[in-house]
Amino acid sequence: MSQRTLARRDESVAREWLNDAVIYQIYPQSFADSDGDGIGDLPGVIDRLDYLEWLGVNTIWFNPCFESPFADAGYDVSDYLKVAARYGTNDDLERLVREAKQRGIRVLLDLVAGHTSVEHPWFQRELAASGPDPAGDRYVWRHGAPAPPKNDIEMPGTPQWVESPGPRPGWYLKNFYDDQPALNFGWANVRSDEPWRDAVDDAGPIRNREALREIMAFWLDRGVAGFRIDMAFSLVKDDDDLVETLQLWSETKHWLDDHYPDAVFIPEGVEPRATHEPAFDADFFLAIFEPHAALFDNGSAGSLPWTSHNPCYFDDAGRGTVQPFLEAFEQAQEGRPDRRIIVGSADHDFGRLASDRRNGASLESAFVFLLTWGSIPSIWYGDEIGMRYLPDAPDVEGAVCYPTYNRAGCRTPMQWDTSANAGFSSAPADQLYLPIDADPSRPDVASSRDDETSLLHLVRRLIQIRKETPSLHPGTGVEVIGDGYPLAYIRGGDHLVIVNPSSASSTVDLPQSDLPLELISNDVRVADGVIHVGPRGYAIFRLG
Ligand code: GLC
Repeated sequence: MSQRTLARRDESVAREWLNDAVIYQIYPQSFADSDGDGIGDLPGVIDRLDYLEWLGVNTIWFNPCFESPFADAGYDVSDYLKVAARYGTNDDLERLVREAKQRGIRVLLDLVAGHTSVEHPWFQRELAASGPDPAGDRYVWRHGAPAPPKNDIEMPGTPQWVESPGPRPGWYLKNFYDDQPALNFGWANVRSDEPWRDAVDDAGPIRNREALREIMAFWLDRGVAGFRIDMAFSLVKDDDDLVETLQLWSETKHWLDDHYPDAVFIPEGVEPRATHEPAFDADFFLAIFEPHAALFDNGSAGSLPWTSHNPCYFDDAGRGTVQPFLEAFEQAQEGRPDRRIIVGSADHDFGRLASDRRNGASLESAFVFLLTWGSIPSIWYGDEIGMRYLPDAPDVEGAVCYPTYNRAGCRTPMQWDTSANAGFSSAPADQLYLPIDADPSRPDVASSRDDETSLLHLVRRLIQIRKETPSLHPGTGVEVIGDGYPLAYIRGGDHLVIVNPSSASSTVDLPQSDLPLELISNDVRVADGVIHVGPRGYAIFRLG
């Protein structure tokens, strides 16, 4: 059993509210439909704010809710300053922000910084342009035909050239799907044989940098608390070690510091370790491309070429290892103890905590971990009631991003109660954004609220314990005393957490002689200096 101590955070960092954040991620199309069109909307979310307040979360992160042709579920924005009609109006978003604030909840939006939709007027203008345009160069165009892609099946997210649908001749660079042309933030290396490579300070890239600030200011002025930045790493092309990209974000952060000192911005994934000053306020740690995502990810959504084949740690089989996560966490904070890390239960690109491969009590230990580890927790809507990943969900709005990977199964409508469509919408079932889990024993919020023994009540209790216990906040250090099954760690020097996701019993030595005070526990017993942890057992103790 190894013993390691993970860093303490430097308390001097700004935006202190983020340390106490319990994030709840809402997929706007799937949360609550107030107008019966089968798609969730912002008034629907407003109607459910009381639920979020009852649950105890204090920060919402919305997936993109802006005008879009929805080729990639809204990650293809055609107007950054306008809420998509299907979700409501800008006034609805402002009202939501106000009403959330009254309940102590902040709102984060998703900023798609690296690309737009082909329908964005900036792109349409360049597509129509027959000659140089003083307001152009927002995208990257080339004349000569590019070399064909190396692989038959192309990985979305790899910059590739797409032939112009005309009238402008040539090819444009895309960032994800073909319909998502990359915004031009310049290239780290300019080359005379590739004249489309602008420098980062050429006119087009500067125009786009300024546009990002204008978009942020527009929404920050309307009360939002900050942004999750989609594909933040993708901006400057051919940028080894992301030096230029981080420079861009640092500059943007300085601007944010000057104008919106309380607002946060958080990249998709982990900001690379660099000698650079931190360009972001926190990192989303379990992005799908990270090998340590196998902490929670059990492959229910399928696999991608880069998927780690480490067995999942939070799994009944008990064959996983928590080591890659611990090592990555330690490394992320090395030399930067102030770095805040967000660990999510899942997100819109993953499976879910609950799936055919994992359910019941092992979800409980996952939540005990999520809400007591030295990170900021993020809950993917519905995970708190144990909503299941649906393996056969249809490919809606670009959900299948690789032949062996389907994101639709984690994006299905929120299950509110036992009424028609699980209380999500009054539309006919075949008009819903995605089908609802047809399992008659599917969980729902109302039934879970009525049942004191439900996962939902546990999650709520854990959020309360976390709020009342400063030792469980990020930045108080994590001392790992058991790193197999169970995982055992001491937080803030005086709280011991034990989680055993596996279906086998195990033990861990009690780190002190006094009997600890139990705050919460399931199938855990202390005897003769040894803690016995039953299958899927967990406990939080206050040490004497
Ligand atoms: C990010 C988003 C994903 C989206 C992609 C392109 O990875 O999380 O859902 O498809 O960017 O914007």
